[in-house]
Amino acid sequence: MMQIKETIKPSGREQNIDLNTSVMGTVFTDHMFICDYENGQWNNPRIEPLELIATHPAAMALHYGQAIFEGLKATLGKDDTPLLFRPDQNAKRLNFSADRMGMPAFPEAMFLEALKRFVAIEKNWIPTAEGTALYLRPFMYADEAFIGMRAATKYKFIIFASPSGPFFSKPIKLWAETQYIRAANGGTGEAKAAGNYAAAIRPTEMAKAKGYDQVLWLDARDFEYVQEVGTMNIFFKIAGKFITPNLNGSVLNGVTRLSVIDLLRDKGFEVTERPISMKEIVEAFENGTLEEAFGAGTAVSIAPVEEIGYKDMKIKFPAEAPVGKDIKATMDAIKTQKIEDKFGWIVEVDSAVKA
Ligand SMILES: Cc1ncc(COP(=O)(O)O)c(C=O)c1O
Repeated sequence: MMQIKETIKPSGREQNIDLNTSVMGTVFTDHMFICDYENGQWNNPRIEPLELIATHPAAMALHYGQAIFEGLKATLGKDDTPLLFRPDQNAKRLNFSADRMGMPAFPEAMFLEALKRFVAIEKNWIPTAEGTALYLRPFMYADEAFIGMRAATKYKFIIFASPSGPFFSKPIKLWAETQYIRAANGGTGEAKAAGNYAAAIRPTEMAKAKGYDQVLWLDARDFEYVQEVGTMNIFFKIAGKFITPNLNGSVLNGVTRLSVIDLLRDKGFEVTERPISMKEIVEAFENGTLEEAFGAGTAVSIAPVEEIGYKDMKIKFPAEAPVGKDIKATMDAIKTQKIEDKFGWIVEVDSAVKA
């Protein structure tokens, strides 16, 4: 594997910032990992001070949208060892997205090595309070200067990071959207493509103006089957059993979703991955079997749902997702090595920074 060249210049800024209350995405750490794709291969992997990157006005990502990203978190475990949660899943998903968007794969071994070295270097930026973490943002975009519809021949893969204070899991209100869609069969919904998020911005602003926190996306054909939430997958508990929409090509394959399915089963719950319709949810609400719902994603971990606005109805949830809360506590404990990681999800980072 190619050697990562390291140019390390710590600023000491993290000493003057309260990392535990830092709002994710507002403060950035000192360095970035960066690697260039040209002539059919990835070249020159390096970690260097984070700085602005000169971009040609014809950079293809800006026009044709070849841009994909990932998101995962680093925490501190026993003896202050930095830990990553299932980074192999992010490596795989990045390449799934790359394939869908006509972009080159980034070697999984290099992805993991880059994350580990980067986190070892930025270790002092990992917040320590409960529910906090260092958010890591790996992403790839086309930076070839060219006008025309074809796959770019030059790309950048970059990782940068931002300390993330605790997300208070206040119950959220979702608006079941029946005018706009996020993803259609055959589209890009299962890829973590930047354009998916661009298309979601206006409908989300409209839902917020109605008093809701996020959109609950429905299927593109009938506006009937639940897909997912803005940046989370969703789980429902009906008559004691859990249901989450199956991966059908238009739902993101969330790492938290995968983990929640395993944890629920481990705790003895039945979990089914299948299409779930608004009709079924409304019926369960009306006959009193709709017990809880929660969103699941890296940024918030678990967010209990208190209400779904659907047409002229307000579907209210009777409880603040007690099972969801328990799952969140278990996941947080695994992520900080307070309990055993019997699933083998945690990757320890050798925190020794090379001289
Ligand atoms: C659209 C969408 N769905 C679901 C998720 C949850 O995925 P994960 O658990 O991997 O963060 C995310 C966040 O990445 C997302 O952007």
